[in-house]
Amino acid sequence: MMEKTCVIIKPDGVCKKVSGDIIKKFDGEGLKLVAVRMIKPEKQVMENFYSVHKDREFFKPLVDFVCSAPVIVMVWEDENAVAKVRGIVGSTNSKEAADGTLRNIFGTDNRRNVVHASDSAENAQKEIAFFFKPEEIAQYDYNDWQ
Ligand code: CMP
Repeated sequence: MMEKTCVIIKPDGVCKKVSGDIIKKFDGEGLKLVAVRMIKPEKQVMENFYSVHKDREFFKPLVDFVCSAPVIVMVWEDENAVAKVRGIVGSTNSKEAADGTLRNIFGTDNRRNVVHASDSAENAQKEIAFFFKPEEIAQYDYNDWQ
């Protein structure tokens, strides 16, 4: 199924200057970039974004971390984009992420794991709406660019 997924390059990815490598990986895997913006997120926005984790001990450090520097929010589109992107990104804990995944290559630990990626198509729609209006998402056949 054609899906959109929300990907965030977190402060560690931006500050380590690997944003280009991360985008290049998704491009190279055939995904289509349909929206992108750099923001310095508001605490309240990210508290809402991560509200499913609000009772976990890592919630406050997670929100503090993700608001500590600019992030790059993106929407990528493809057949089964949610699962495809999660495979490229790797397990939440960078130390356990499979060889060659983004978190394995660029991540540090559970929190500094360079990239957020939606865990379902339903959540992807909710997450995308935090950062983009519908009209800000490209609707164009990229095979038709000439
Ligand atoms: P992300 O994909 O952004 O979604 C939720 C985030 O919570 C996750 O990446 C991690 O950075 C963080 N997280 C999940 N589990 C833990 C944990 N056990 N300890 C610290 N941070 C966690």
